[in-house]
Amino acid sequence: MRLVAFGAGYVGLVTGTGMAELGHEVLCVDIDPEKIQRLNDGVVPIYEPGLTDLIRRNERSGRLHFSVEVTPPFDEADVYFIAVGTPPTDDGGADVRAVMAAADQIARTAKRKALVAIKSTVPVGTCDAVQERVNRANVALEVVSNPEFLKEGAAVSDFFRPDRIILGARTEDARQILRRLYAPLQLSGERLVVTDPRSSELVKYASNTMLAMRVSFMNELSRLCHVTGADIHAVRLGVGSDSRIGKRFLYAGPGYGGSCFPKDVQALAHLGKAHGVSMRLAEATHAANQEQAAFVIQLVEEALGSVSGKRVALWGLAFKPETDDVRESPALKLARALVEHGATVVGHDPEASATFARAFDDKMNGKVTVVDREYDALDGADALVLLTEWRSYRAPNFAEIKRRLRGVRPLVVDGRNIWAPRDVESEGLRYQGIGVPRQAASRKGD
Ligand SMILES: NC(=O)c1ccc[n+]([C@@H]2O[C@H](COP(=O)([O-])OP(=O)(O)OC[C@H]3O[C@@H](n4cnc5c(N)ncnc54)[C@H](O)[C@@H]3O)[C@@H](O)[C@H]2O)c1
Repeated sequence: MRLVAFGAGYVGLVTGTGMAELGHEVLCVDIDPEKIQRLNDGVVPIYEPGLTDLIRRNERSGRLHFSVEVTPPFDEADVYFIAVGTPPTDDGGADVRAVMAAADQIARTAKRKALVAIKSTVPVGTCDAVQERVNRANVALEVVSNPEFLKEGAAVSDFFRPDRIILGARTEDARQILRRLYAPLQLSGERLVVTDPRSSELVKYASNTMLAMRVSFMNELSRLCHVTGADIHAVRLGVGSDSRIGKRFLYAGPGYGGSCFPKDVQALAHLGKAHGVSMRLAEATHAANQEQAAFVIQLVEEALGSVSGKRVALWGLAFKPETDDVRESPALKLARALVEHGATVVGHDPEASATFARAFDDKMNGKVTVVDREYDALDGADALVLLTEWRSYRAPNFAEIKRRLRGVRPLVVDGRNIWAPRDVESEGLRYQGIGVPRQAASRKGD
């Protein structure tokens, strides 16, 4: 088939490239000329494991193209994917203007009957609104919902081995085309959910909010552990061993971040409000996440006395491992709070240092810096805070950390609970985990 993907970001680039790899002829369109120029020069603008090789291979084969607009023969495409951003509005809703702009471009340029598949995360009813818009075109365009579930850091393997695919379409014709498109991935049974567009749109928000809710619940429990002396490790193991609950997404930490959970949880609450249905769990999930970020700041401040004039090293700036995405990352929130309270921050991340540095304006310049080697972040710092569990941070040299940090018994905050407290403390460092009380911390691993 001939396909167009609007938006050459994490979703559009992976979808377009994955579809080219399956043998389709694909054009990725983005309004950002710099991004398109870089892609045409062979530079991939995001870090996503396996993506660069796949892009190069498909470009070489002539199946994958990049442009700022739809050019022939792609004005005669079979399917137009919309994978543009839907950022939060000031009141927590989803801003769908880019989706509408892409739809208008499709309506203007499409020269034959086609599907418009919305991959962007959009509020219930958006497909119907887009359908009305594209009905003005000279050709028949049917709008379908096909929400994206890729995980940044594993997006390429998620494309080829998805947990499920959700197809929301009103006509049998559209369903057949979508089934054919995804047939090479060999999904069957309940892993291929074929439904109407509104249900499909809601599946995406419901999934992200459910996952965020689990994380927020564990984070609240970690705060309860902190004051009661219970150990969140044991609570997680005990709770997660119930097969009805399961073990995943039960890790306490500095709060969830990224470009999806924070905005999607708020958008679900907003959607409920707009329809007179209170989404209390979504609202509480968001509030608990904000409180967790404040809790991490409080941990650092309590342990250091005051942070004013202090220097704090951060390991892990991306919102999770294996990505360079720092949108809503715990490191951004902590760095901003520390600087506001008079500290300086020096960060390290295997992939996200550049995106992190770009996120700070001139006012913060000099107060937030990044380094290429993780141990260099420690020189003269008063504390180390680990915020992203990259593999390369899992077995550090604690003696080296002690040597580089300042003070008699410097502070190490393990924001992801990945280190054995005894390993840290035996080198003369102070350990602070999330919901791992000090006395329990000393016992763990004995
Ligand atoms: N990133 C994820 O992990 C993920 C996962 C599932 C779903 N989603 C959803 O997918 C959508 C895209 O997310 P993303 O992370 O890929 O965003 P992104 O910000 O990485 O990329 C969006 C791209 O769209 C481009 N764009 C904006 N308006 C355009 C237009 N009119 N025409 C063409 N291009 C345009 C932007 O320049 C940008 O390059 C969002 O709705 C998001 O919620 C994201």
